[in-house]
Amino acid sequence: MDGAIRFLLNGVPRALTTVAPNTSVLSYLRETELLCGTKDGCSTGGCGACTVALAELSEDGLHYRSVNACNLPVTELHGKLLVTIEGLAGKDGRLHPVQAAILRQHGTQCGYCTPGVAMSLFCLNHRKRGNEADDAEVIRSLSGNICRCTGYRPLLAAARDIADGSEDWYLENEHRLAEQLRDHVGATRIVLETEDWRFVASRSLTDVLDELKSNPEATLICGGTASSQSRARTNGRATVVSIADVAELRKVETAVDTIEIGAAVPYEDMLPVFDRTHPDLAALIRRLGCQQTRNRGTLGGAIGQKRLTGDVIAGLLVLGADVVLRSPDDERSVSLDTYNDEPDLRCRTGEVITRIKIPLCGPDEVFRTYKVSIRRDLALPVLTSAYYARVRDGRIQDARIAYSGLNGQTVRLKAFEQAVSGLSPSVGLATDTLDDLAKSIHEYAVDDESSAYARSLAVNLLKRFLAEIAHADQPVQVAAL
Ligand SMILES: Cc1cc2nc3c(=O)[nH]c(=O)nc-3n(C[C@H](O)[C@H](O)[C@H](O)COP(=O)(O)OP(=O)(O)OC[C@H]3O[C@@H](n4cnc5c(N)ncnc54)[C@H](O)[C@@H]3O)c2cc1C
Ligand code: FES
Ligand code: FES
Repeated sequence: MDGAIRFLLNGVPRALTTVAPNTSVLSYLRETELLCGTKDGCSTGGCGACTVALAELSEDGLHYRSVNACNLPVTELHGKLLVTIEGLAGKDGRLHPVQAAILRQHGTQCGYCTPGVAMSLFCLNHRKRGNEADDAEVIRSLSGNICRCTGYRPLLAAARDIADGSEDWYLENEHRLAEQLRDHVGATRIVLETEDWRFVASRSLTDVLDELKSNPEATLICGGTASSQSRARTNGRATVVSIADVAELRKVETAVDTIEIGAAVPYEDMLPVFDRTHPDLAALIRRLGCQQTRNRGTLGGAIGQKRLTGDVIAGLLVLGADVVLRSPDDERSVSLDTYNDEPDLRCRTGEVITRIKIPLCGPDEVFRTYKVSIRRDLALPVLTSAYYARVRDGRIQDARIAYSGLNGQTVRLKAFEQAVSGLSPSVGLATDTLDDLAKSIHEYAVDDESSAYARSLAVNLLKRFLAEIAHADQPVQVAAL
């Protein structure tokens, strides 16, 4: 056990013993380290000006991710290498290849977004290990970096210009840095106590359950993308338990008919497996927040919140996913549908969500999700919808339909499910039925203009789902919305 948060800052060891766990990495960098290159734009994860690189130990060295420093608690640095814009240029002042490419391609004007952009491209370059990224990857990696004066064309050009990946001190010294990190961090469990806080982080579920046994009211934190604001307002002596690096919660396991995703697996890490098993879920996750959010956010965090409105909830719900929860003395499994409907069955004091079991779809099952939002990235949905149906002999059976965004919750619309049961998708719904469906949604929504828009979307997206089943050979891209 250790009483310090140990990490490397731009390759230099740091050990923090007195910091409050609700301090953001951004405040720590700017106010304690006086490293002001990392900018503060919105403080809520919505602009990317504060982007830094966070590298964790992996089997083959270090795995770099772009994260927003403004909503990352400083405690989450434990065991990691933090790279900021000040750490990019060489000691002799030579610009890092990413910085040089931005300069060559005229990718900066006022410069406020530039450190964040450079850090996002630095992480992309590391993930690609010097191999060229395609435009889609570059656009995804910059999805959380808002630039309001230069524009994105020069930044795309800069990303192409660094493709040779040469002269990167972090790549050249990767194994030495990984060794240094291992030696410096040592203990896998830390307990940090101040007058106001007790902070615990561990790599083992047993440690987390032991802590919950003696301290059931402890607040869990995983990616921190949904909770850092509320933790900052905590009164009295609070205990925070970080579960982001618990090995048992970071597993992805595939069985014959299900896939199990650990509650602490970041969204980005689920994508390769969902691309194979549930492509619509993967497409939806690629539109969740931005790369920085997906690098930290988790399913445990989406389901652990008081309001289940995350983009993934409707999809998991219609797929028939189960939530598995552990307490120090028990394990229970509950269908997400029931979990959503019955607050008493949600994550209780002293419990932790450990994994989510998602059924695989068979050849006669269809699963679709559609998200409509004001922008493609970094926008909460106007409406997220999810549809599941078994289609046999040209007719729909066992339909499950859920929407998030109608009334601040995720709801299954039974009237919609009944309307399509037994239906042949190519015939579609009669106008009368559609009118009835539109009326049936009124009970879920307040009567204002945006709500009326969401209601009309709900019916139109159902029509789209039917059209997609009827014309399976002409898929419509989710990104088109
Ligand atoms: C800029 C930005 C954009 C975003 N955009 C979207 C979006 O487009 N769509 C969307 O759906 N979401 C979005 N989010 C919200 C957020 O990223 C997701 O809800 C994410 O799934 C939260 O996961 P987390 O691990 O970060 O949760 P945390 O913040 O760590 O935790 C959230 C809550 O869940 C609890 N919790 C976490 N893990 C567990 C567990 N294993 N067991 C029990 N309780 C647990 C915590 O105690 C806390 O109450 C956005 C967030 C930001 C900052
Ligand atoms: S300051 Fe805007 S994302 Fe952090
Ligand atoms: S250079 Fe000014 S906001 Fe991007």
